[in-house]
Amino acid sequence: MAGPVTPDDAIAAIRGTGGAQPGYRALHAKGTLYRGTFTATPEAQRLSRARHLDGSTVPTLIRFSNGSGNPTQPDGAPGVRGMAVKFTLPDGSTTDVSTQTARLFVSSTPDGFVDLLRAMRPGPTAPIRMAGYLLTHPALFGALPILRAANRIPASYGTVEYHGLHAFRWVDADGGARFVRYHLWPAAGEQFLSGSAGRATGHDFLTEEFSTRLRSGPVRFEFRVQIAGPGDSTVDPSARWAGTGYTTVGTLDITGPDTEREHGDDIVVFDPMRVTDGIEPSADPVLRFRSQTYSASVKLRTGVDRGPTAPPA
Ligand code: HEM
Repeated sequence: MAGPVTPDDAIAAIRGTGGAQPGYRALHAKGTLYRGTFTATPEAQRLSRARHLDGSTVPTLIRFSNGSGNPTQPDGAPGVRGMAVKFTLPDGSTTDVSTQTARLFVSSTPDGFVDLLRAMRPGPTAPIRMAGYLLTHPALFGALPILRAANRIPASYGTVEYHGLHAFRWVDADGGARFVRYHLWPAAGEQFLSGSAGRATGHDFLTEEFSTRLRSGPVRFEFRVQIAGPGDSTVDPSARWAGTGYTTVGTLDITGPDTEREHGDDIVVFDPMRVTDGIEPSADPVLRFRSQTYSASVKLRTGVDRGPTAPPA
């Protein structure tokens, strides 16, 4: 097909894999909303002048999800999981962080991802399509162990690390800037189930487990950033960064379920392009394409055009 893929092409490809079902997010269809608080460390303020990073405690809305577009997928099925966080700033505006369990993205471009979705469409020719995809996108071979790891079944939404993948430019009060990648690290450490243990779990065990976990107190994540070195790509979410150092920029405490949002006409969208002063999106084409595809998904799930409420792509 000629020309770059469009958000509608992405939605059609997702529908081919069983996602984009009416009334649900096209991907990450099954998920649960929680409330929490976030408090930044002094290092955060040194790296960015964003108001939610000034050390005061701000409210957050969190959504954990299964990556699939199937809203009835059993929680014990292997697959990528998502963790999205919306921070409320002192002026009432919000900024979002959107992460998932894969350490690197499967492609450097939206086209590569949509081609992969097309190859994954279930059916008798799927193995041939997947083999064809691998031959034309050999870089994916290197990413297979990362994908395998990302698809593991976590013992809890609170026992797996989530990654933001895209680079964002953090600008401090003096105008100094650096590119960073986001990681949300579970304070409980990482814990996974075997495939057979996963199959033995209840249909919604991740949400049930999280309710139980919350009864013993807040569930904590550390917000860590990796700072780009001179050779690290700020536009390719499938490229590894050489640097291994992480800086903890804050603590997220998930305190309980959210009972107010997404009732009636209320729409919640976690959009990684929703930044704030002190944080700028990189030129990563996947990051920019996501925002447009999320608008297409919102239209599909709610009938509402995000129009100017969508962050600029
Ligand atoms: C071209 C690449 C991608 C496409 C086409 C895509 C597509 C989608 C769509 C259509 C949705 C539903 C949005 C909504 O209705 O609100 C979604 C949700 C989500 N995506 Fe992506 N995505 C892409 C890349 C990524 C990446 C790189 C990440 C993580 C770094 C990610 C993490 C998430 C998460 C966490 C959600 C659920 C948000 C929520 O809980 O509301 N996606 N994605």
